[in-house]
Amino acid sequence: MALDLNSGVDLVDQDSNYMNELVNLTTKFNPEMTIGDLLNAYHQWAFGQLEENINKLNIPNDGDIIVLGIYLGHTFNIIKNIFPNRNVIGIDASDYGNPIENVIYQDVRTLFANNNFDRPVAVLFDGIGSWHFCQQSKSAAFEFASNNIISNGYYIDESGWRDGVSYSGIETFKENLDPFEVVTDTSPLYILQHK
Ligand SMILES: C[S@@+](CC[C@H](N)C(=O)[O-])C[C@H]1O[C@@H](n2cnc3c(N)ncnc32)[C@H](O)[C@@H]1O
Repeated sequence: MALDLNSGVDLVDQDSNYMNELVNLTTKFNPEMTIGDLLNAYHQWAFGQLEENINKLNIPNDGDIIVLGIYLGHTFNIIKNIFPNRNVIGIDASDYGNPIENVIYQDVRTLFANNNFDRPVAVLFDGIGSWHFCQQSKSAAFEFASNNIISNGYYIDESGWRDGVSYSGIETFKENLDPFEVVTDTSPLYILQHK
């Protein structure tokens, strides 16, 4: 069945391998480009500048680095290279067939339930995508981030503020960003720091 971007049903619940279809769709936000084109443009930016942006942060020395929403591993591999001496864990509900090490293939809503995956986290990089298309999944990720990121650690949303593929991002879904403070809400990264 075709994906419905406005149903309020998380994309992963509509189709566990939804990325295969999503990359071919356009949005009202930008009917000139497919979501795949936008993702490619983001990947190009990330290869050149993600490291520079992350290096500006004062990342705590302790705690895991967690990357959600691996897809084919573009961002995950960049982040693994930025942190060669840290425990970098990837998580995705689906395996898109590209062999990537250190990834847990599970839905975050299941994995994070009942505080089962709790641990000290220095950085949580949320690549699950749009708040508008994946509200339940993003909320589970944000709750895990609130409870597990250590003081001065970071929650980085790959498509957070006015998320690039819809008109709305985290600001539409969360009135209160406690226990975080906004570091930067300029495109394409949305960075919060735990108080
Ligand atoms: C836009 S893609 C991520 C793009 C990726 N960061 C990159 O570098 O190309 C979104 C990913 O989030 C995953 N995802 C969506 N909902 C999820 C959930 N509830 N739990 C875990 N992963 C989820 C999808 O399977 C998909 O691989």
